Amino acid sequence: MVDVEEGLLVRKIKEGVVIDHIPAGVGHHLLKLIDGITKHTFVVVANVKSNKMGKKDIIKVEKWFPDKDKLKIISLLAPTSTVNIIKDGEVVEKYKLSLPERIDGIFKCPNPRCITNDEREASFIATAFIKMDYDGTYHCFYCDTLITRDEFKSLKII
Ligand code: CTP
Ligand code: ZN
Repeated sequence: MVDVEEGLLVRKIKEGVVIDHIPAGVGHHLLKLIDGITKHTFVVVANVKSNKMGKKDIIKVEKWFPDKDKLKIISLLAPTSTVNIIKDGEVVEKYKLSLPERIDGIFKCPNPRCITNDEREASFIATAFIKMDYDGTYHCFYCDTLITRDEFKSLKII
């Protein structure tokens, strides 16, 4: 069921992706993940009422679909999200995301002395960040550098 506020603001799309249940305030951070975003038809609906979450953001992008790595990054930055793949005006796939246990080969480790940043080794070793049990902070598998979920927003993507 479409929330009333969303329905008043934006129409349904025909082909593309709807990322729903994004924590309020996080929607615009996801835009940079969308390849060539400025060429797509897209909308960010921010701070709409949600029964489950109080307030939420929604993104709709026409004619773009996330790959596996992009889904992983969205799970990290917006773990409450639901990613709906729309084809011919219908939801054909729905991914309910949650915080990933580990993130492999996507982000560069911020520690310049980490073995994954050593030019002689970097082409052999993929970066790996593992979720800590207690609070959703991650640590580098190789050098143990701690990275909060907020810090991932500014980490370089390989
Ligand atoms: N949507 C859209 N265009 C479509 C189909 C769906 O923009 N052609 C949007 C809806 O407006 C909604 C989201 O995609 O924001 C998910 O659609 P749907 O699964 O029909 O809604 P719900 O059942 O409410 O989803 P959920 O259970 O995940 O909250
Ligand atoms: Zn490291």
